[in-house]
Amino acid sequence: MAGGKAVSPRMFISFEGIDGSGKSTQARLLAETLREEGHEVVLTREPGGSEGAELIRRLLVEGGAERWSAETEILLFNAARRDHIERTILPALARNATVISDRFADSTRVYQGATRGDLTDKVEALHRLMIEIEPDRTFVIDIDPSEGLARGAARGGNEDRFESMGLGFQEKLRAGFAALAAQHPERVRMIDGTGGKAEIAVRVRAAL
Ligand code: ADP
Ligand code: TYD
Repeated sequence: MAGGKAVSPRMFISFEGIDGSGKSTQARLLAETLREEGHEVVLTREPGGSEGAELIRRLLVEGGAERWSAETEILLFNAARRDHIERTILPALARNATVISDRFADSTRVYQGATRGDLTDKVEALHRLMIEIEPDRTFVIDIDPSEGLARGAARGGNEDRFESMGLGFQEKLRAGFAALAAQHPERVRMIDGTGGKAEIAVRVRAAL
C-alpha cells in the first residue's frame, strides 16, 4: 500500500457477557493491543455508540426494573442499534477500521429474547429486518454472576436497572450466553473471565 501504511483487517468484533463480567475492560485492552499492532480501531459500546443511541441508552439503563416491558425494550435497543450502525459502525468499516463493540445484538438475544420470556422469534425477526449485520467474532467473558454483581455494586452509579433484576436473572443470562456460543461456534467464543485483567486479555488475543 502507498506510504507503507499498515492495512487493517476490517474486522467487526463484539464483547458480550453478564453485567460486571469485565467486557468493557477487555474491549479496551484489545483495542490498545490492536492499535499497538498498527490497526485503526474504533472502540464503541451498546446501548450507545452514537449521539442518538446514547440518548436512548439513558431511557434503558436508568430507572426501575418495571419501567419497560421486554417487548418495548426490544424496540428501544433496536432503535439505538440502528443509529449506532448507521452513524458509527458502517462508516468505520467502510474506511477499513476495526470496530470493537462492548455489547451488540447478542445482548438483545439473551437479555430480551431468552431471559425475560420466550421472545426469541420476535428478536430474530426484528434483527433480520432492521439490523442484518453480525460481528465477525464475538467474545463472551464468562464469570460467576455473584462476582459480576459484586463488581457492579462496587462501581456504583445509577445505571443499574438490569443489575436490580437480581442474581437469578444473571444466572439465566450466563446460561443464555453459553447456549448462544454452542449454537454459533464459528463466531462466538467463550473466554474464561477468572483471573487478572492482563491474563484474560492474553486469552482474548490468542482466540482472535
Ligand atoms: P462490564 O463491562 O462487563 O460491566 P467492566 O470491565 O466494567 O465490566 O468491569 C467491572 C468492574 O470490575 C470494574 O470496576 C473493573 O475494573 C473490574 N474488573 C474488570 N476485570 C477484572 C478482573 N479480571 N479482575 C478484577 N476486577 C476486574
Ligand atoms: P452495559 O453498560 O454494558 O452494562 P454492564 O457494564 O453492567 O454490563 O449495558 C447496559 C445494560 O443493558 C446491561 O445490563 C445489559 C443491557 N442490554 C440489554 O438488555 N439488551 C441489549 O441489547 C443491550 C445492548 C444491553
